[in-house]
Amino acid sequence: MTVTGAAAAAASVLPGSTAWGAAREGRRRYALVGTGVRGNSMWGRGLVARYADTVEFVGLCDVNPLRVEVAKRDLGVSCPTFTRLEDMLGAVKPEVLMVTTVDAAHAECIVTALDRGIDVITEKPMVIDEAQCRAVLEAEKRNKKQIVVTFNYRYSPKHQKIKEVLLSGDIGTVSSVDFSWYLDTTHGADYFRRWHRLREKGGSLWVHKATHHFDLINWWLDAEPVEVSAFGSLNHYGKKGPFRHTHCRPCPHKTQCAFYRDITKEPRLVDLYVNCESADGYLRDGCVFREDVNVSDTMNAVVRYTNGATMSYSLNTFMPLEGYRLAFNGTKGRLEVRDFERQPWDVPEETEIYVTRNFGKREKIEIPKAEGGHGGGDDRLRDLIFRNPQVPDYMRLPGSRAGATSCLTGIAARKSVDEGRPVKIAELVSL
Ligand SMILES: NC(=O)c1ccc[n+]([C@@H]2O[C@H](COP(=O)([O-])OP(=O)(O)OC[C@H]3O[C@@H](n4cnc5c(N)ncnc54)[C@H](O)[C@@H]3O)[C@@H](O)[C@H]2O)c1
Repeated sequence: MTVTGAAAAAASVLPGSTAWGAAREGRRRYALVGTGVRGNSMWGRGLVARYADTVEFVGLCDVNPLRVEVAKRDLGVSCPTFTRLEDMLGAVKPEVLMVTTVDAAHAECIVTALDRGIDVITEKPMVIDEAQCRAVLEAEKRNKKQIVVTFNYRYSPKHQKIKEVLLSGDIGTVSSVDFSWYLDTTHGADYFRRWHRLREKGGSLWVHKATHHFDLINWWLDAEPVEVSAFGSLNHYGKKGPFRHTHCRPCPHKTQCAFYRDITKEPRLVDLYVNCESADGYLRDGCVFREDVNVSDTMNAVVRYTNGATMSYSLNTFMPLEGYRLAFNGTKGRLEVRDFERQPWDVPEETEIYVTRNFGKREKIEIPKAEGGHGGGDDRLRDLIFRNPQVPDYMRLPGSRAGATSCLTGIAARKSVDEGRPVKIAELVSL
């Protein structure tokens, strides 16, 4: 099953896709704000190692003065460091700002950069609420600068393959989608150790995590969300736990707690967080049962899209396995995906994709092999941003509209849970 040249050409580009990088050659001046693990690795060392011919680091910034120095050492760069974004932008005048702070700070960083005429590459989620969303979209428009939102999931070969099967028309018009994402007691629990457990920092997992999934669906369906109905609850972490402490290191419940994590055995986390605690008090090994957890760990939503399709979506965070089940139900057949990331049994293949035609047979879809972070998506995304290779329109970089529509699905879901009613996207932001 391949996408023919004609089908690829006919595929429309989401209005949010951006022509980033077109006709740009040589090195550009990049600054980075938010030098935690993602900034350090994906957008720090990862660029120094592979993109020295196109990327020049001119400044690093983090509100934690110790962590920004760890980053400078890790990256091996000689640029100055800052604890205030305004100071950095004024002093080093970058052409592009890379935003990898906690989610709640993205919007302010993006608007500050755009208002100084600087293009922005931002980690997901672009924003965590509707007011931030409006502010970012208006700033982009008034400054005529560009935003790229780094939806790496789109760029793993398996996700590209799903897009191509849908574009081929083999299953007809998609009428509904079944999408269940499972986070396990390792990865899922880690959200509850960190700032992600607080809605005011990460917008809840409806926004922080599900923005990836909602973006994939918008892109796969070539559609945007219209209305969302959702339920969400806290069933396992936070105040639902049997005991609690501030964090793991001094915890009196170490021996009984299945979630105990000895961060002192992980040198990278010690460098980035433990050794920087004195500056901001942030505990990377926070207790998953702290009373202040104010996000759901169990989430279900139904979403209706501009093309009439609907999606049943769920996100569970304390499963014995990690991965997802996904199906597109079309007028001519069904596309089914089972993705295994981690589970306590062996699987022959990490991802299985099948197309079953109505009144016909089931066909197994071959997936190109991939290496690297996030199913190979991280490297392909960076190549697209920093090397600008030719790609079909449907693989072009996501821009602010994609950033907005994916976040707004989660923001609407969160509001639907809070208010016990369906929420229309148009109530939140006029796109
Ligand atoms: N695309 C992906 O697959 C992926 C994976 C991991 C993280 N992320 C995203 O990357 C971002 C960073 O995540 P992380 O895991 O590195 O978190 P982290 O906690 O390790 O790092 C965040 C950093 O931001 C700093 N910070 C907070 N507010 C700031 C502000 N106003 N100005 C400057 N610095 C500020 C913190 O001090 C910290 O060093 C998040 O938005 C997250 O959603 C994306």
